[in-house]
Amino acid sequence: MKLLLTAALQNRTHLLLLIYTVIGMCLFTLASQLEVFSIGVMTKKGPDFFELFAPMEGGQLAKVEQVEASTAQARWKELDPQNKGVITKQEAADFVRAHGSPDRVGQAIQYADSWFNFNGNIANLALFLICVALLKAVSQFIHRYTTRTVAIRVSRDLRQQYFEHLQALPMEFFQKHDIGGLSARAVGDAGVIAQALTSSLINFVQSPFVIATTLLWCFLTSWQLTLLIFCGFPLIIGPIYLIARKVKKIAKQLQKNQEGFSSVLIDFFAGIQTVKVFAMEDFSLKKYREQNTRMADLEQKSARYDLSSRPIVHTMGVLCVATAMLYGLHVLQMNVTSVLVYCALLYLFYEPIKKFAEENNNIQRGVAAAERMYEVMDITPQIQDVEGASELKPLQDSVVFDDVWFKYDDQWILKGLSFTAKKGQTVALVGPTGAGKSTIVQLLPRLYEPQKGEISIDGHNINTVTQRSLRDAIAFVPQKPFLFMDTVAENISFGRPFTRKQVIDAARRAYADEFIQELPEGYDSFLAEAGKNLSGGQQQRLAIARALVKDASILVLDEATSSLDNVSESRIKRALHDLHGSITQIIIAHRLTTIEDADKIVFIDNGKKIAEGTKDELLESCLPFKLMWEMRTHDEELD
Ligand SMILES: Nc1ncnc2c1ncn2[C@@H]1O[C@H](COP(=O)(O)OP(=O)(O)OP(=O)(O)O)[C@@H](O)[C@H]1O
Ligand SMILES: [Mg+2]
Repeated sequence: MKLLLTAALQNRTHLLLLIYTVIGMCLFTLASQLEVFSIGVMTKKGPDFFELFAPMEGGQLAKVEQVEASTAQARWKELDPQNKGVITKQEAADFVRAHGSPDRVGQAIQYADSWFNFNGNIANLALFLICVALLKAVSQFIHRYTTRTVAIRVSRDLRQQYFEHLQALPMEFFQKHDIGGLSARAVGDAGVIAQALTSSLINFVQSPFVIATTLLWCFLTSWQLTLLIFCGFPLIIGPIYLIARKVKKIAKQLQKNQEGFSSVLIDFFAGIQTVKVFAMEDFSLKKYREQNTRMADLEQKSARYDLSSRPIVHTMGVLCVATAMLYGLHVLQMNVTSVLVYCALLYLFYEPIKKFAEENNNIQRGVAAAERMYEVMDITPQIQDVEGASELKPLQDSVVFDDVWFKYDDQWILKGLSFTAKKGQTVALVGPTGAGKSTIVQLLPRLYEPQKGEISIDGHNINTVTQRSLRDAIAFVPQKPFLFMDTVAENISFGRPFTRKQVIDAARRAYADEFIQELPEGYDSFLAEAGKNLSGGQQQRLAIARALVKDASILVLDEATSSLDNVSESRIKRALHDLHGSITQIIIAHRLTTIEDADKIVFIDNGKKIAEGTKDELLESCLPFKLMWEMRTHDEELD
């Protein structure tokens, strides 16, 4: 509940809207009560016989079940002092008003009548009814509209906050959570929370107001009857409480299942090629069917509870109203108008209680959704800027890895790694697969943080500078480049305001320009999701262009040339060669020819540096490098 309120009150305009909602709800309730009152006015055309001829008791007309002839004759004389032999309805009404009606409803009607003259002029009554209907319609629109607006805005803000928070979370988080679940929260949960908010307003603002005021009217109409009805109350509340608990439990299971469901779908889409090549559609289908059936089962169960609450409450409500009617008419000797008004009030009273269960189910779903969403939002990013973090300037001197130790889980992946890359140098990281090369370059932009040791740029530990300035200083071409569903030019400039000329220039340097020109709309061609309409090599060249346009002082390439053909690869090699001296390059390359001119090659095995030096030095001194060189260059010759 606290979470829902936090979500609602984050914004001050929300508070204002909430106030309008509350006012609208109260006016709506009052209008409904006035409507009930009008029923009384319409049915009460004048005092009835037993009321008019009742004996006086304490200055008021008494409530009686029988009238004696002598009392009636005496009353007639009082009503007809001039002995005309007739009395009018008006005279009778005036008499009862003057001496006080025995029941409260009658008194209220008389009071209203003295103001608006309902009995004398039917047009007044019609006008009154129209005004009440209008008040009800307008207040209903206002409170529903403002509630809906708050709900829409809260859901928008939550989705926004959630995404902003996700962006700040470290890589580790995304590796531990499944993407399906995380996306389901943004898409579904925010909406469920907003719906729950509407329901909370109804259950915790409108309903208490309706219940309290209606109860007050009931009490004023007949306190004896109200006490009796109260005894039936637990019969209604009991089942609602039990159902609410069940629904909350099912809601949680359902949301968990939805996460699994999304994951199955996302896996399928991401691995569609593998699924098709292995003809494993049945495997995916089986998983999908399991999740789908389970979801339907849970939905069915939820529907059962959801839908059962209203009939239960309705039956109880009807029983109570019937009891009230019979008891009021026959035991308490209330007149028909009073009993009618009382029963209509009871209906008003039961309406929010009937809805309570349904709205409460929405709230429970919202609470479960809010818990899941805030589970992510409450995670403080482990990698954060320290207080007073400085801005990193473009590289002046060197990048230093000093005795760096790193583990993902329990196993050390990097074990005391040290090396230096001087400004303008090209440093290549070489080693067998799984040696830890990609891990090393991911530590540099602080995607992960080493457990021991230090990485520094120009003598500043990278932990002491802002992440933004650090990442601005590095252009990174990852092992698996990612392209967005946007134009080629947008994919290269990647949200930064580069001119078309700068974009084309970078594409030329990455040897991407040649294939881009051949696309139907050149730089404005739209790429399919994840660049699916490009070859692996083309995707890599775009990713390299994206890094080059950034003009950062450190360029990191992780296997960026692995999908290129020999011609493109040699061109990239030339492009990198052109950059030599102006920017610092840290390159991981499967093809050793790409890095043969590097100023320094660091040979890594099993997270440790085995040797470092130029290609010729390593061929001399490092046997594993020599073997790898011979094998790979031999392979490349065969290519
Ligand atoms: N997110 C992760 N969680 C746990 N272990 C990981 C994770 N990523 C990589 N590893 C492990 O860390 C080790 C080093 O991986 P890394 O990707 O750095 O190797 P690499 O040298 O780049 O290999 P390759 O040449 O195949 O790209 C591997 O043993 C790998 O299993
Ligand atoms: Mg790698």
